[in-house]
Amino acid sequence: MLTGGTGAIGQAIARRLAATPGYEVVLLARHEGRAKRVVAALQRATANPRIRFELVDVSLRGPIDALAERWQEPVHVLINNAAVTPRARCETQEGIETQFATNVLGYFRLTQALTPHLVRSAPARVVNVASYWAGGLDLDDLEFKRRKYHNDAAYRQSKQANRMTTVAFAERLTIRGVSVNACHPGDVNSVLSNNLGFGGHETPEQGAKTPAWLATSDVGGVAAGRYFERQREVICPFVRDREATEALYAACESY
Ligand SMILES: NC(=O)c1ccc[n+]([C@@H]2O[C@H](COP(=O)([O-])OP(=O)(O)OC[C@H]3O[C@@H](n4cnc5c(N)ncnc54)[C@H](OP(=O)(O)O)[C@@H]3O)[C@@H](O)[C@H]2O)c1
Repeated sequence: MLTGGTGAIGQAIARRLAATPGYEVVLLARHEGRAKRVVAALQRATANPRIRFELVDVSLRGPIDALAERWQEPVHVLINNAAVTPRARCETQEGIETQFATNVLGYFRLTQALTPHLVRSAPARVVNVASYWAGGLDLDDLEFKRRKYHNDAAYRQSKQANRMTTVAFAERLTIRGVSVNACHPGDVNSVLSNNLGFGGHETPEQGAKTPAWLATSDVGGVAAGRYFERQREVICPFVRDREATEALYAACESY
């Protein structure tokens, strides 16, 4: 299962997985028309008919819970990848700042809601697509209510949060047979990167390499709470502060 599969990097991850023997790929997407087009293109490109989509807006709790409730099949791999970078501060229907709701709570809630499915399917794994471009997390102002909103600052915060919640989930789920890890994909031209003011110098295929590797390789099934760049582990400074990591987990859970 993969979020953001209609985007630049997500589509390339889906293509890699669908081309790997034995993989069935489910895109969790918010736009039906776009999802249908991408599924058809992926099926043509990989000759794998076992690619489909489920409609889920990951910025909202309702659709995530509904997916978890209706889902009957195993989930061996969840790749959290969907993210946004709106230039002006905006809020979801639930009144939550959109980057925090999508990039942070989207990852968090999907992982939590699908945990029973992942545990039942164990060994299973969660891959969180984060970024090297991360920092500035303010636990007292997660939604940029006090600070002036800037999409780059909100984005860096959200990617730091992805790396921290990866560790918090790994501590809870490794013992239940689910490995949780994070990675930087690559710098790729996309809606997300264009909003942040850069075009990216890597292809989507290059960007998909590390997330797909974590999803399929032995390393991704063994490592727990680690952060990877270019298929190599990088020590993440954000997770040294256990108290902050747990405080963030509790804050996400309180929404
Ligand atoms: N691009 C880079 O250089 C770069 C660098 C480092 C890390 N990353 C990370 O890589 C990941 C993918 O980025 P990208 O560059 O491929 O972005 P992208 O092309 O802009 O794609 C974003 C994806 O997220 C989906 N999405 C956004 N909001 C959603 C929602 N509420 N519900 C469901 N799906 C939603 C979009 O769906 P729609 O098609 O419906 O809009 C799209 O599929 C992100 O986590 C990003 O932080 C990217």
